[in-house]
Amino acid sequence: MPAIPPLRLGVNVDHVATLRNARGGRAPDPVRAALLAIEAGADGITAHLREDRRHIRDDDMARLKAEISKPLNFEMAATAEMLQIALATKPHAVCLVPERRTEVTTEGGLDVVGQRDALGPFIARLGDAGIRVSLFIAADPAQIEMAAKLKSPVIEIHVGAWCDAVVEGQKQKAEAEWQRIVAGAKLAQSAGLEVHAGHGLDYVTAETISALPQIVELNIGHFMMGEAMFVGLAQTIRDMRAAMDRGRKSLRGHR
Ligand code: PXP
Repeated sequence: MPAIPPLRLGVNVDHVATLRNARGGRAPDPVRAALLAIEAGADGITAHLREDRRHIRDDDMARLKAEISKPLNFEMAATAEMLQIALATKPHAVCLVPERRTEVTTEGGLDVVGQRDALGPFIARLGDAGIRVSLFIAADPAQIEMAAKLKSPVIEIHVGAWCDAVVEGQKQKAEAEWQRIVAGAKLAQSAGLEVHAGHGLDYVTAETISALPQIVELNIGHFMMGEAMFVGLAQTIRDMRAAMDRGRKSLRGHR
């Protein structure tokens, strides 16, 4: 049997900044959370610098880059302003996401097909600077094929609809979304893309999705920051790592 590819845990610290910004001031500090997450076993840190700076701010991103010892995944919209900041920050990776000011969170995947003319040069500029680019997209064959055509090395599959359906007990919807993810992950890998997944994952869905050998990184934020309030961040990271390891071992026959 071929070796099981390792699965990385990227911890999104946006909501530490959300809590800080609710009061102003400096606490709680997302960089402190990032350092603690790494100490507890995170393989990387993700932060989203939104156009409206509602959580992570420019100096948070600069401090994350300067202070953490693991890869920084800089999430951003494909705008000229963000491109400039990313090129100056030089994170390990950039994940391009769609962004609307009125949304509560990133609601859907990037329309790579519709925006291919704009995204192509973005991917090239970031790649030329040595930054690994990822596109946050739905598990839609047309979007996946376009991501490969534009030579993005990585995609992150938006698994929010599946996670919501699982949590709400909508069995049929959850199964349909799951099948889309399985097929999408296989298609992406066969197109030469590295495959990540994120949005809405909790212990249950993270364990399930860890059984897909095509997926090599999960980016998780909201659920873990909520859990951290009850059991602490380090324990949450260890529990998430354990859920991922259980799922990875089972592989559930999706090879
Ligand atoms: N991946 C991407 C690209 C995201 O935009 C987000 C949300 O900011 C996440 C992962 C993490 O999602 P969640 O906070 O629901 O775990």
